[in-house]
Amino acid sequence: MQPDRAPALETTPLFETIRVSKAYGVYLALRDVSFQVSDGEFVSIVGPNGAGKTTLVNVVTGLLTPTRGEVRFLGGDIAGVGPVELARRGMSRTFQLVNIFPALTVRETLAVAVASRLRRVANPFRSLRRDDVLQAEAERVAEVLGLRARLDIVASTLSQGEKKLLDIASAFALNPTVILLDEPTSGVSTGDKHAIMEVLVTAAKAVGVRAIVQVEHDMDLVERYSHRIVALQEGSVLADMAPEAFFADPAMISAVVGTRRKTMRTP
Ligand SMILES: Nc1ncnc2c1ncn2[C@@H]1O[C@H](COP(=O)(O)OP(=O)(O)O)[C@@H](O)[C@H]1O
Ligand SMILES: [Mg+2]
Repeated sequence: MQPDRAPALETTPLFETIRVSKAYGVYLALRDVSFQVSDGEFVSIVGPNGAGKTTLVNVVTGLLTPTRGEVRFLGGDIAGVGPVELARRGMSRTFQLVNIFPALTVRETLAVAVASRLRRVANPFRSLRRDDVLQAEAERVAEVLGLRARLDIVASTLSQGEKKLLDIASAFALNPTVILLDEPTSGVSTGDKHAIMEVLVTAAKAVGVRAIVQVEHDMDLVERYSHRIVALQEGSVLADMAPEAFFADPAMISAVVGTRRKTMRTP
């Protein structure tokens, strides 16, 4: 991940969707969505509630199968691969709602994530504590994400910002090639949002993450960190452009942040 460098234009994308549609029953949540993410890119997916952002992340990460279209990762079709195998191949993610085990410490949480990467899942949980490789890896990931001083804190007592960071750290524990974050800063204060983004970008550089995709509502963060913005509206790609072009277009901004349909359900 080299956020300072303009992305190369003619390389094979790290991953892409090709004319992807996703239906929930009769409701079409994604319509013909094609987008690509290349080496070195930080891409923000934006759009009003219900636009299909989470659905798109779920389709890309193998949690959902597209109704039509194709998803490719590192040159191959990922149809039927599934989220666990995709994570092992380097596609890591976080969820919109933080997904941590409240009773585990930071150290235990990260050891579990590392264990799943190293396929030590058959070991009884108690043995994680005595596994030197897991412990060293958990500490390394905590260090990179700025959680080293919190290693022995129980997750439920962390601040909201630290919980978000722990969630991100668990995704980093999988040694990802690409990382997708669904609203990584939602529910935290403005100051903490910026701190999380700085830690994220620095950590990605430090461990060689090749691309970051985030769903984000905070337009300050989107403007500051993105190389490219993909705007969804009612399941379709409304725009796929550089932040300079996006933020120069008031109609675009209001389409993305200004419209909230009253009937929209939030899952
Ligand atoms: N499992 C589901 N079953 C039925 N409808 C769903 C489901 N998940 C999401 N939806 C609907 O699909 C649309 C897109 O949802 P989502 O991808 O979560 O949007 P966003 O993340 O942009 O807010 C919304 O109208 C939502 O209510
Ligand atoms: Mg969502």
